[in-house]
Amino acid sequence: MVEYEKDPIVYPYITEYLRKDIPPRSGILKELEDYAKEHGVPIVQPETAQLLEVLSAIKRPKRILEVGCAIGYSAILMAQYLDVGGTVTTLEWDADTAQIARENIKKAGLEDTINVINNDAKEVIPTLSAEYDIIFLDGPKAHYIYMLNDCIRLLKKGGLLIADNVLYKGMTADDNHVIRRKITIVKRLRRFISAQMQRNELKTVVLPLGDGVTVAVKV
Ligand SMILES: C[S@@+](CC[C@H](N)C(=O)[O-])C[C@H]1O[C@@H](n2cnc3c(N)ncnc32)[C@H](O)[C@@H]1O
Repeated sequence: MVEYEKDPIVYPYITEYLRKDIPPRSGILKELEDYAKEHGVPIVQPETAQLLEVLSAIKRPKRILEVGCAIGYSAILMAQYLDVGGTVTTLEWDADTAQIARENIKKAGLEDTINVINNDAKEVIPTLSAEYDIIFLDGPKAHYIYMLNDCIRLLKKGGLLIADNVLYKGMTADDNHVIRRKITIVKRLRRFISAQMQRNELKTVVLPLGDGVTVAVKV
């Protein structure tokens, strides 16, 4: 049985069905899934991981930027689909976590491909100037809205901006579901979704998958 959040954004039986046929992982990704479970590290949910793989396989990116590396799971996952010579830059502000990610990335043989920057993404992003094919936001949810302009600036035309947890256990969609201490995050996530929808540079869809994911393409 799948363990469910108190307020899942889709019916539990749907989540169970979506996960049923996802092939089990092996090697380093399986090790990281087990580690995340044991140590309570919030890596992407299985169906969100599947979406990242599909989008990465479609794009065959040369450059990926990730905000929120944790132990390196999603960075390693996406790196499998890089174009020849492609790279992932991933940001993680917690020094110990960044160190664990670097060790995992080395174990995966990807130390020349994935660069972990141990710093606050809010400070790093404005300083970046490379163009990215995929930007994956999975760090500070309350700051997605403040990162949007830079993300659009950093995305190539046709590039994808993917943001996880935008429905935030359903709280984003309905005031009755909001836990009081989460209200600031929820309000900012609502602004983030609306802003993406309204920006002429983007075409955006909100997917009720995992904890809610937006996928936007720069047009
Ligand atoms: C949900 S986890 C990332 C999971 C990872 N993407 C995966 O699926 O394998 C979010 C991570 O973002 C980091 N984080 C939070 N705020 C940050 C910030 N302002 N700058 C950089 N990293 C941040 C946290 O320390 C945490 O490790």
